[in-house]
Amino acid sequence: MIRQAEDLARGEAQGTAEFAADVRAGLTRSGQKTLPSRYLYDDVGSALFEAISQLPEYGLTAADERILRMRADEIVGRIPGPLIVSELGSGSGRKTRWLLEALARRQPLTCYFPIDISAAALRHCERELDRIPSLRFEGIESDYLGGLGDVARRRPAGHRLLLLFLGSTIGNFDRPAAESFLRQVRRSLLPGDGLLLGTDLEKPVPRLLAAYDDAAGVTAAFNLNLLGRINRELGADFDLDAFAHAVRYDASERRVEMHLRAASPQEVQVPAAGLRVRFAPGETIWTESSHKYAAGEAREIGRRTGFGVEGGRWIDQQWAFAETLLIAA
Ligand code: AVJ
Repeated sequence: MIRQAEDLARGEAQGTAEFAADVRAGLTRSGQKTLPSRYLYDDVGSALFEAISQLPEYGLTAADERILRMRADEIVGRIPGPLIVSELGSGSGRKTRWLLEALARRQPLTCYFPIDISAAALRHCERELDRIPSLRFEGIESDYLGGLGDVARRRPAGHRLLLLFLGSTIGNFDRPAAESFLRQVRRSLLPGDGLLLGTDLEKPVPRLLAAYDDAAGVTAAFNLNLLGRINRELGADFDLDAFAHAVRYDASERRVEMHLRAASPQEVQVPAAGLRVRFAPGETIWTESSHKYAAGEAREIGRRTGFGVEGGRWIDQQWAFAETLLIAA
C-alpha cells in the first residue's frame, strides 16, 4: 500500500503523542517508575536486539530457531488440511522460514500474514522470506489483536490457521495479562486452529542474569537506548552516563526484570511530555519483565483460555525453551 506523505506525517505525530503520554504516565507514578517495554524497539533497539540474539549468554533465540529448524515438518504436520499462517510480531522472519518451507513442501500456496506495528520490520521480514516458492506475503501493520481480526476476515474458506507467537514474547506480559491476552487471541480463532507458543523455561538464576546482563554490554545498550529514544523523539535531556543497566530475578513472580538505575540525583526535562522528573540516587525505572515458565505451564494456560488438546510440545536440548502447539477447542 502506498501512503501519502501527509498520512505518514499524521501517523508519526500520533505515535509521538502516544509515546509522550506513556512516558509521562510511567515517570510520574508514585513509587516504582516504569516505561513500557514495547518502546525498546525503535530502529536502534531492534538492531541491538538482533545482536543480543547472537550472544553466547542469550540462548533463547537460538533455541527457538533450533526447534523450528529441526521439527518444522512434524509441527506443521500436527494440523491437517490446507493452512494459512499468521504471526504476532514479524521479527526477522529467520525462524518462521523453517515452518513456511515445510508448508511449501506440502501445499501449493501458503498465505502468510505477519502482524507488526513496525512497517520496517515487515519489510525486513518480507525480504528474508522472498526465496520461498509459493508464498503469498501479506504484512499487516497493526497491533496484535487488531491484526488478528483482519486475518479472521481475510482467511479463505476451508483453511485452518496456524498462529505463531514465538521467541517468548508472551513473557513480557505478567501472568494474569498473558492469560487474558490468550483468551482474546482465542476469540479470533476457529476450533481446530493452532497456536504455536514459544516460552523460555525456568533455569538457574546465574544463567538467567547473565542472559540479560551480557559481558559485552549489548543488553545494557539496548536498555539505555530507551532513554536515548526519549531524548531523540521527545527532546529530553537524560544523561545516559548517569543511568546504569540493572537486572534482578524475582523468584516469586519467576521473572527477570530490567531496570535503569540513577547513580546520583538527577533532574530530567521531557519537553514533548511537558514533564520535569526527579530521580533519587539509586532510584530505578523498570523497563521490562521476562517471565520464565515451567515446561507444562503453556498447556495449562491453554486449557484455561479455550484451547483443548495439546497438539505437541518440543523442548530444546541445549537451552531450556519450549514450543507448545495449542489447538483451539
Ligand atoms: C524479545 C521479549 C523475548 O524478554 O528475553 C532480550 C527481549 N530483553 N534481552 C526477552 C530482551 C533483554 C526478549 N524478548
